[in-house]
Amino acid sequence: MEFFENRGHKIVPSSSLVPENDSSVLFVTAGMHPLVPYLMGENHPLGKRIANIQKCVRTGDIDDVGDSTHNTFFEMLGNWSFGDYFKNESIQWSWEFLTDKKWLGINPEKIKVTVFKGDNDAPRDDESIEVWKKCFQKSGISFEIYDKEKNNNENARIFPLPKEDNWWGPAGETGPCGPDTEIFIDLGRSINFEKCPKGDDCKPGCNCGRYVEIWNNVFMEYNKTSDRKYVPLKQKNVDTGMGMERTLATLNGFNNVYETDLLAPIIAEVEKLSGKKCSESKNIKKSMRIIADHIRTSVFMISDGVVPSNLDRGYILRRLLRRAIRHGNLLKMPNGFLLPLAETVVDIYKEFYPELLENKDRILEEIKKEEEKFERTLEKGLKELEKMVKIKEEKENKFPYAEKTRPDFGSKSDDYINYISGKDAFNLYQTYGFPPELIREELAKYAMSYHKGEFDTELKKHQQISRTAAAGKFKGGLADASEETKKLHTAAHLLLESLRRILGDHIYQKGSNITADRLRFDFSHPEKLTDEEKQKVEDLVNEQIQKNLPVNFEEMKLEDAKKIGAMGVFDAKYGEQVKVYSIGNFSKEICAGPHINHTGELGIFKIQKEKSSSAGVRRIKAVLE
Ligand code: SER
Repeated sequence: MEFFENRGHKIVPSSSLVPENDSSVLFVTAGMHPLVPYLMGENHPLGKRIANIQKCVRTGDIDDVGDSTHNTFFEMLGNWSFGDYFKNESIQWSWEFLTDKKWLGINPEKIKVTVFKGDNDAPRDDESIEVWKKCFQKSGISFEIYDKEKNNNENARIFPLPKEDNWWGPAGETGPCGPDTEIFIDLGRSINFEKCPKGDDCKPGCNCGRYVEIWNNVFMEYNKTSDRKYVPLKQKNVDTGMGMERTLATLNGFNNVYETDLLAPIIAEVEKLSGKKCSESKNIKKSMRIIADHIRTSVFMISDGVVPSNLDRGYILRRLLRRAIRHGNLLKMPNGFLLPLAETVVDIYKEFYPELLENKDRILEEIKKEEEKFERTLEKGLKELEKMVKIKEEKENKFPYAEKTRPDFGSKSDDYINYISGKDAFNLYQTYGFPPELIREELAKYAMSYHKGEFDTELKKHQQISRTAAAGKFKGGLADASEETKKLHTAAHLLLESLRRILGDHIYQKGSNITADRLRFDFSHPEKLTDEEKQKVEDLVNEQIQKNLPVNFEEMKLEDAKKIGAMGVFDAKYGEQVKVYSIGNFSKEICAGPHINHTGELGIFKIQKEKSSSAGVRRIKAVLE
């Protein structure tokens, strides 16, 4: 942060893991996520250069956790230019920060980069290539551009690759996007020479473990239009993301993130509680890593207000906790082992994220409840699963499974020869609370899988984890900033103020989620709203809409915003300079935008539902008609 501060950047604090005003994902998955409004052209109150360290969760790679570099929680370091500097400064600063002895001092010879190779939509990113050449020249290291014909991947330093590798966003059909350049650490040929399936073709981007991506610089310079054209943007942005854990591992000379100070104390605690050593076997190592990763993610999620449940975010959390419990049980760890591990996580991070300490009791309480719940069914479920496997094997009369050599625990072998039915698998899920990846993992030990199509049909029938798929990959997903979402966003401000005027000023916003069709709004209030209260709130909002109030914003210091009584999200962290949106004289709120210009554009506001969201928090679903 200091490096970028010295270069004119203002540092902003991490946002919550739970995204505000964005229903496209369940969790914040990249540093850019909370900054989307500014990438779309809103002015950032702190200016055009920002740097941050953002808490992120990605569960799309959950099956890869246990290898050297994948984590479900990580910190992303980023620097940002909103229409200010571009490729030249961005790349040179990355190089300086990584290689200069004053900063990270990484051996430049170990660094390889990828750039966009060009296609029908956009040309090769020669501008980035030129800047990279300049950097390498300055450091006196050789560079060749990768050329398939020449088969020069061992000597090349710059690798032009297609869209799949070096293009960022948009997740939806339209929006800002552009080429990126990714920076890799080459751990050396010895790391994978024997086992890389690509053999001599191994290069940055290969998943075998030799190349670790540590930084991604995205250059947003196009807008993808609805007729699939790539039109140059007026405001060109830089969005970079650097993986904290991987970078730290590199600096320490480790080939995996679990030996760094961020995770090693958790592994040490697991070793102590289980009486086993991580290095004893491949399976033990994998289980220990999964436990360490999952407990860390769970602690941060609960601290940001997520509780285990069968829906959305809560279900992701539940899956992580349960998978950790199962792996603890494989290591024969004592019941309740997650609690001391959670305390270890709080200890590691409490200085930088003091909210962990503030929320510690709640974090431990939620974990304890989930542990107790799952421990009751885990054993029974495992017995049931074993029965299913046996019946299946006897029926097929194929593999007397006691004698069969089983594939390495957790291996991703494609040749599962046998399946249990989707219905059976669903029973494990429904009755014993087994998350799908846990079922997959258990069955893999018998070289088995389950019938996924049938399982999904059952699941749909039960309409549960409907949106967990959305928690998967967030490849540059700029949130939907359609007119409809903007209107509902403005309506949310009117709603908050109306609730406060009708019900009292104990009311704070606890969360919100807006799609093009509806708005969901959580607020602190101890009891159900009466019909009369709901009507009053609705009327007050509609009154403001009819007045056609102007919507404006002003930038100011956070303390000034507080002085003039601007509302914020309770518990949220803001930078020292903020934007305050006002709607006539009716409402004032700290907010990044975007909003519509006049309330008259909103139509008619209607509350569709009001219900409890969690203890002391109510949830309103509302639409504009
Ligand atoms: N958005 C890009 C990423 O997630 C760069 O920050 O990698």
